[in-house]
Amino acid sequence: MNLIISFSGREGGNCDNISEYIATEGDTIIHFRNLHVHDCSGCRYECFEDVCKYRGDDIYNLFESMVNYEKIFFIVPMYCGNPTSLYFKLNERSQDFFMHNEEIYEAIVSKLYIIGIYGEKNKTPDFIPCFETWFEGTELNHRVLGIERHKYGQKMEDKILGVKEIKQQIDQFIWQ
Ligand SMILES: Cc1cc2nc3c(=O)[nH]c(=O)nc-3n(C[C@H](O)[C@H](O)[C@H](O)COP(=O)(O)O)c2cc1C
Repeated sequence: MNLIISFSGREGGNCDNISEYIATEGDTIIHFRNLHVHDCSGCRYECFEDVCKYRGDDIYNLFESMVNYEKIFFIVPMYCGNPTSLYFKLNERSQDFFMHNEEIYEAIVSKLYIIGIYGEKNKTPDFIPCFETWFEGTELNHRVLGIERHKYGQKMEDKILGVKEIKQQIDQFIWQ
């Protein structure tokens, strides 16, 4: 069983479509936009010494559940040159979880695969490396796939799964 998380803000866009495409029976798809997850804001950084004041929202449960899956896929779109803020929300709130669950950090990272949807590498070369930081210092390779929409003439309203080559890239990535 795999866990697939779409970090798009819109329903039925490319990230949601890819999530459905890669899901097989028994997999779980989560649309991060629908979770109740507080920003890392309005606190005193309690997570470093104690417990995050927002511990009761949906993020801690989400991280806890990750150990139960074989693979975890993050599907992340680019907004204004960077991964969407929904992705950074998860990233920042992981601070509290891993401060208290350090022993499962490596196990979770070992399950992780990230697909980033963006325009093109030439214009925004830092987008994909941003995801690769999860795997620095590990032996894990080929964990990040960048899908460059512009390479295939795909605009914002287009459905990138309609492009055969993109489908092939995704197939190769998920079945590696
Ligand atoms: C606020 C916003 C900013 C965006 N900025 C960029 C951008 O800087 N570069 C880019 O290539 N695409 C950008 N896009 C387009 C999205 O990356 C693209 O539509 C992607 O397919 C979104 O995922 P979705 O289809 O799942 O919603 C932006 C979209 C939004 C809503």
